[in-house]
Amino acid sequence: MLKESWSLVEEHQDKVAGYFYARIFLSYPDLRDLFPVQMDVQRARLLGAIVQAVQTLEDPERFDDYLRSLGRDHRKFHVEPEHYEVVGGALIESMRAHAGEQWGVEYDQAWADAYAVIAAKMLAGAEADPNPPYWYAEVVAHERRSQDIAVFTVLPLQPLDFRAGQYLSVEAPRYQPRLWRTYSPANAPRRDNTLEFHVRAVGAGWVSSALVRRLQVGDMIKVAAPMGTMTLDRRSTRDAVFVAGGTGLAPVKSLLEELTRYNRTRWVHVFFGARNREDLYDLADLNRLAARYPWLSVVTACSDDPTFPGEQGDISDVVAKYGPWKEHDFFVSGSGRMVRSTLKRLAELQVPSVRIKYDSFNE
Ligand SMILES: Cc1cc2nc3c(=O)[nH]c(=O)nc-3n(C[C@H](O)[C@H](O)[C@H](O)COP(=O)(O)OP(=O)(O)OC[C@H]3O[C@@H](n4cnc5c(N)ncnc54)[C@H](O)[C@@H]3O)c2cc1C
Ligand code: HEM
Repeated sequence: MLKESWSLVEEHQDKVAGYFYARIFLSYPDLRDLFPVQMDVQRARLLGAIVQAVQTLEDPERFDDYLRSLGRDHRKFHVEPEHYEVVGGALIESMRAHAGEQWGVEYDQAWADAYAVIAAKMLAGAEADPNPPYWYAEVVAHERRSQDIAVFTVLPLQPLDFRAGQYLSVEAPRYQPRLWRTYSPANAPRRDNTLEFHVRAVGAGWVSSALVRRLQVGDMIKVAAPMGTMTLDRRSTRDAVFVAGGTGLAPVKSLLEELTRYNRTRWVHVFFGARNREDLYDLADLNRLAARYPWLSVVTACSDDPTFPGEQGDISDVVAKYGPWKEHDFFVSGSGRMVRSTLKRLAELQVPSVRIKYDSFNE
């Protein structure tokens, strides 16, 4: 029923979104402040997210963890429990207003029920979280490594627990207020609490360009809600392969830093690829690590730089040239395209999918 009823309005999604936000902001003007200044960029982001969640989470019990962390994460947007009812009401009203005569009262009930189950799980997650909704962190170093890439370090004002390989939400309020994006710290948790980020400015990217081109030492950013499961299993005795594309190196370096603290027995291979050598922005440090730790080897590749002295081609093809890899743990991180092609390659090489963890920058 949820899919059937959505299909009645799907064609007019833009209008439904316009109505949805207008409905919310007219009834509760204060809620406008929760959303980004430029709503056109984000158009339908929240509406799309809710519709997708309601339709795909047919069995919300299976998605309990996801929904709890989504609710916990929503606290960074300043979402309060009473807002859920407002948004749920606006969602159903805006669909009904655009569906025409085919809309039935049973659809109202189906959406209300599904939304209520999801909202209850998100609220439970938010309530159970002992952490603050976000942390302020001061920029203590900022270095441009290439035209489009910056490496910067921040110091959160309060301790922040995360696991190596996880990612955090980041907002740069001075430049792009209320726009949050996820970035992976490039270090394991440290005693001094600092976090290092590797960011690449993508095309017309709002947040990444601000972080690369405008952020300065002394600025405050906000970080929130460590998430993600690309972490090390300390019990695993298998050798490990890390495949990173561009700034996908960040979580890989975080995992390597954790390994340097305890690993004595596992061979670790890092494959680091980029379009050209300028984008292999952290090679010096990777080579330093490889020189220091005998269990670590590094292979680099460029796909668009014919005179580069390392490997040539896409990193997924380069990984396939080495091996065999059937007994290894894999960690893959980078753009959606790079992650997809690597996963496809690994499937061809018969690496069992349970041994592969990955983070894709754009799903
Ligand atoms: C789990 C996870 C971890 C991440 N970790 C990192 C990290 O450590 N370092 C890092 O640099 N990025 C990382 N990202 C990507 C980051 O979250 C943003 O998506 C990216 O910085 C673009 O945000 P933006 O606001 O600048 O672009 P937006 O304003 O959101 O997008 C602007 C335009 O660029 C396009 N676009 C968005 N992302 C990409 C992309 N990756 N490649 C090409 N085009 C794109 C969009 O389609 C849109 O047209 C991570 C993403 C995820 C999901
Ligand atoms: C069933 C309930 C809800 C679901 C499934 C849901 C889901 C989502 C998802 C998946 C995102 C994108 C997250 C991201 O990009 O980081 C999002 C963003 C957001 N949500 Fe929700 N949400 C719900 C309820 C609410 C409510 C009640 C509010 C309160 C007003 C709210 C406010 C926001 C805001 C402000 C954003 C950021 C939007 C933007 O950047 O344009 N959400 N939501």
